[in-house]
Amino acid sequence: LCEAGPRINCYPEPSANQNLCESRGCIWGPTQDTSDGTPWCYFKDGVGYNLASQNGSTYNLRKNNGPKNPWGEDFQNIQIRTSTIGSVLNVKIGLDGRYEPPVDFPRATLASSETLSFTTASSDDLFWFSVIRNSTNRKIFDTSLGGLIFSDQFLQLSTYLPSENMYGWGENAHQSLKHNFSRYLTWGMLARDQPPNSLNLDTMNLYGVHPFYMCLEPDGNAHGVFIFNSNPQEVTTAPGPSLIYRTIGGNLDIYFFPGPTPALVTQQYLEFIGKPFLPAYWALGYQLSRYGYSGLDEMKQRVGAVRDAGIPLDIAVSDIDYMNRYKDFSTNDKWSGFEDYVNQMHGWNMKLIPIFDPAVEADYLPFQRAQSFGAKFIEWETYSQVQTDIQKLYPMANKTKIMLGVVWPDNHVAFPDFLDSTGRTQAWWRTELELYHSKLTFDGIWIDMNEPANFGTNEQHPWYFDSADHPDDAPLFCPTNGSNRWDLPPYQTHAVYYYGGNQNNAYLSSKTLCLAGVQNNGSYRFYDTKNLYGLTEAISTQQALLDVTGKRGAVVSRSTFPSAGRYAGHWLGDNTARWEDLRTSVIGAQEFNLFGIPYVGSDVCGFLGTSNEELCLRWQQMGAFHSFFRNHNTLREPAQDPAVWPSVAAATKTANLFRYQYLPYLFSLHFQASQSGLTVVRPVLFEYPSDSATFDLGYQFMWGSNIMVAPVVYQGAVTTNLYLPNDVWYSLFNYMYGSRIDPGYITVPSPTTSRIPVFVRGGSAIPRQTPTTTTTMSRFNPFELLIAPCQLGKAVGVLYWDDGQRIVDSFDTHDYHQFDFNFVSTSSDAQLTITRTRKGSVTLPTLDIIEIFNYPSPPNFRSFLLNGKSVNVNVQSSTYSGITKTLYISTQFL
Ligand code: NOJ
Repeated sequence: LCEAGPRINCYPEPSANQNLCESRGCIWGPTQDTSDGTPWCYFKDGVGYNLASQNGSTYNLRKNNGPKNPWGEDFQNIQIRTSTIGSVLNVKIGLDGRYEPPVDFPRATLASSETLSFTTASSDDLFWFSVIRNSTNRKIFDTSLGGLIFSDQFLQLSTYLPSENMYGWGENAHQSLKHNFSRYLTWGMLARDQPPNSLNLDTMNLYGVHPFYMCLEPDGNAHGVFIFNSNPQEVTTAPGPSLIYRTIGGNLDIYFFPGPTPALVTQQYLEFIGKPFLPAYWALGYQLSRYGYSGLDEMKQRVGAVRDAGIPLDIAVSDIDYMNRYKDFSTNDKWSGFEDYVNQMHGWNMKLIPIFDPAVEADYLPFQRAQSFGAKFIEWETYSQVQTDIQKLYPMANKTKIMLGVVWPDNHVAFPDFLDSTGRTQAWWRTELELYHSKLTFDGIWIDMNEPANFGTNEQHPWYFDSADHPDDAPLFCPTNGSNRWDLPPYQTHAVYYYGGNQNNAYLSSKTLCLAGVQNNGSYRFYDTKNLYGLTEAISTQQALLDVTGKRGAVVSRSTFPSAGRYAGHWLGDNTARWEDLRTSVIGAQEFNLFGIPYVGSDVCGFLGTSNEELCLRWQQMGAFHSFFRNHNTLREPAQDPAVWPSVAAATKTANLFRYQYLPYLFSLHFQASQSGLTVVRPVLFEYPSDSATFDLGYQFMWGSNIMVAPVVYQGAVTTNLYLPNDVWYSLFNYMYGSRIDPGYITVPSPTTSRIPVFVRGGSAIPRQTPTTTTTMSRFNPFELLIAPCQLGKAVGVLYWDDGQRIVDSFDTHDYHQFDFNFVSTSSDAQLTITRTRKGSVTLPTLDIIEIFNYPSPPNFRSFLLNGKSVNVNVQSSTYSGITKTLYISTQFL
């Protein structure tokens, strides 16, 4: 009579069959309909532990008589410890002495009226627990589903969720913002050099790892859950709605954030893991990049073409082409004169962000210097594991335990150990960047390949053998003969099984180093710390950039882990020039804001494959709203910068001028993100958590709380269908500029010749600035204020302003201005109050233009008061449109 509960997969590896299943003691139950991914082999009920004893908030559990773990010996005794850190509830399932990720979170909390509690229950032989929101008595986590498994290399936890409105987990390419629980889908989490595939529900793990989700409860309350684990892991979203989480090491160290709003969830999470760095103001400018410039001349040509088209452009990015044979800290002959050009660009107020890869060739000066610094590299645990035939080729590395791999350079490379607790590796890295900076005055740093990527691991005939660059570099082989529990663990996760039989991805070490490796003199196993490589490189690189340039600049990293946003931004990796990828980028940027990495964006126009005029145009228009805004293209594909097509040039110029005009607002959002953990590009539901129509609006997003962006993401579209929640909205796109739009689903024209649909929410006062072609020059222009009042004529807003580059040690001491705007319009007058709530020392431009939507009457009919003083608004200094009821005042105010 009862509907069966979700099945917990007992054979998540490929090729389950009845024999294999039953030999695990599990149930074989084929289903008619295979489309929902229901596992055919599933555990009998009762997998788990029972409660042996309780001591305060510590629960001692004992393995019960239920089914056994197929992937290792169950630990007979484990503990659950619960504690609260402010309003955050921590439930830690595990054992003392097991690996804990060496990540230094601030673990700060925000005061909250909401509290969560931990309750336990058991039936027969099975113990389970729930987490309850006290104010509503709602269960937000409920492990009565069973399935708790705890062994050395296989840990599993299952829970019911209070609703299907769940967001996050990463890094994966998600086709919708909200997860879909009508079927079973397993998402991998292992940092790998894996381009996103936006087609066919690809659930592959990508470059970073973010075991975090936010869930909206049925009454609109939101909570967040973070599992602090850095081993290879995966999560299955299943009917119920339920989650089945698996990891292959460490503990189940779970943090619950009570919200109760989505914004508070993010704030609480980021207080805990660390709030994002504040990018330099220029880093919000437009960036031009490509892999495969034939030399400096081509870079000059493309930068020149974009500038000549009048397109705002701040940053030139140099990919590995600038290096001599792809060696870090060297310059290719075809790039001689690079420093002169950088000086010239600086004169144009442009900046340079070059790429640096972590791995350095094991036979040149920087590597030699590393040795004399006593820097560490990822190494084998014992000398006996070293691939001596390779090692002997490198006198500088011979007789070391350094694990040599293959990346872009011609010869073998070594991977710096950024977990080196002596700090010598970090000091060496900084020195190399400093030495190179004395030759090439870069402003920001792009760190790539830091999963870390290694080519051809375990492959007899890796692809690079067919390239001219290194035909004879022996690949790295990891001990996977069955006796090695790190490179061939009992359970390898979806990262490996996803590919079924594909040899190239058949191991956790595929595309990376051997997991048997060690870091920090053997104190960490790479099996545990691999997912932290990008984070730890970002920490060292940001510190080096700050030291070397004395300015805050920006670092952008391919691999990330919780807290990476403190040190770096992220781009969404090697996407393909396809409409699907444009769409998943819109979702990806929202997710990375949830993960605390708001300086994020995609490779605009698409990285792999050949882009085209329409796609590139739409991508440029959308990308103009992403904080990290870079057009990037791969080797051998035709140029795709906006100057290639006149239509794309025109649309990009319009989109970029709009962005540059709103940069004071975008910068203020980043300021708030850094100071208070708010998001910049945010899902619409963040602002409307009780409107279920917003719960899956993946392709629309908010810019802060005031601006709604509805990019065009479908080929051939000349109209856009979008949803405006119940509020007052004004259009900012060309066709309907300033008009009030009714909420609900609407279809608006969106020809390629227009700006994409953008709306400002009633009640907003938005700081802007007259734009020009660089952020630096735009900063000198007069400020503007856009006032979009609510029904009752009110609007508020804020502006944060600093010198754009000073290093932020603490916001308490940071030198910045803060202005609060408060507008009230009544039938007799309109009043704008500008309060300087914080005074900095930076010289400010004047505020010259105020644009007010829904102004009821021409200016000469009512008085306008600024900070209590009447302002003479006359026909000479203002314009008024009776149709859109927009008043535009241009008088020097401040
Ligand atoms: C891989 C990166 O993801 C891509 O952006 C870059 O162009 C290439 N490496 C070459 O450096």
